[in-house]
Amino acid sequence: MKADLNGVGEASYNKAIESAGEIIKTGGIVAFPTETVYGLGADALNGDAVKLIFKAKGRPADNPLIIHVCDKNISTLTSEIPNIALKLMDEFWPGPLTIIMKKSSVIPYETTAGLETVGIRMPDNKCAQDLIKAGGGFIAAPSANISGRPSPTTFERCVADLDGRVEMIIGKDSEMVGLESTIIDVTGVIPEVLRPGAVTLEMLSKVIGDVAFNGVRMNPEDKPKAPGMKYTHYSPKAEVTIVVGKKSKITSYLIDLAEKDPKSMIILVNGEVLKKIESGDNLIIFNNIEEASKAIFETLRSADDKGFNKVFISAVPETGLGLAFMNRVKKSAGYRFLEVE
Ligand code: TXA
Ligand code: MG
Repeated sequence: MKADLNGVGEASYNKAIESAGEIIKTGGIVAFPTETVYGLGADALNGDAVKLIFKAKGRPADNPLIIHVCDKNISTLTSEIPNIALKLMDEFWPGPLTIIMKKSSVIPYETTAGLETVGIRMPDNKCAQDLIKAGGGFIAAPSANISGRPSPTTFERCVADLDGRVEMIIGKDSEMVGLESTIIDVTGVIPEVLRPGAVTLEMLSKVIGDVAFNGVRMNPEDKPKAPGMKYTHYSPKAEVTIVVGKKSKITSYLIDLAEKDPKSMIILVNGEVLKKIESGDNLIIFNNIEEASKAIFETLRSADDKGFNKVFISAVPETGLGLAFMNRVKKSAGYRFLEVE
């Protein structure tokens, strides 16, 4: 069932949320919007329901899911809430921050993919919160894409990936971050960011002091801490390349390439340096990192629709949101770089 709630009245909205909640409570799966990307949810405490998510996405069973909650009362889910977690919840929830803690015994191993820890977050999106409440309070949800594809940030993309594979898809498009939540593990001595996101290292460190992040490429043989990090992610069919070098060189190289090679899509970030040039058929210019983050997954997907066989993306400094942006595009590029001088 598709429930496009964009522009519908309150009564229809409530009715749709109620039926979606019923589906979750009776062991089914529902796709829904969050403030980061769309998610595909099931009752986190029902192992059989959670298995359906893995099946619908084609997701490897060793990749754990995040549990989404609608308030800060998470004592059912975790055997201990460290002080650092309390501080983080206080400062950043609801919002795009997933906190890894020790799991309690009510959470089935299907949800955590066998791990003794669990990732929990409270999304800052009314529709998500309403659904979580209606669905019993604990929804396990990965991003609502077929495994390996860029995460969907619109109802349309969600439908394109999941129609016919899930009981219900709720559409309510709103301003999204466009990148998945920051993941921080607080079970060790020093809190460690496992996936950068819109809650930046700088923001985290202001609240809790030392934060570790190791952005090196994961070797597929390694046992990564966030098991999802070892899989190819965010990849369109087109071949993606990150262009690195001095900003002015990157810019002139890519502007040039856009003209010479109409079969390649060119994505330029920090376009304020090029006031006079406008986005064209194959040239996409974002004014700043926020704008680029919001649109990057949708842009990569559109590259396939439009038949581009190559995509070139300008590198940005890896600070603030730029760290999360580069983390995702490097993966979509399979770590393919082109240095211009
Ligand atoms: O913004 C988001 O986080 C979105 C929306 C839907 O909430 N969700 C999302 O889920 O991105 P997913 O499944 O696509 O990515 C979850 C990541 C995976 O890399 C997974 O390995 C990691 O979180 N993860 C989940 N539980 C974990 C745990 N207990 N320990 C380490 N990593 C964990
Ligand atoms: Mg995902």
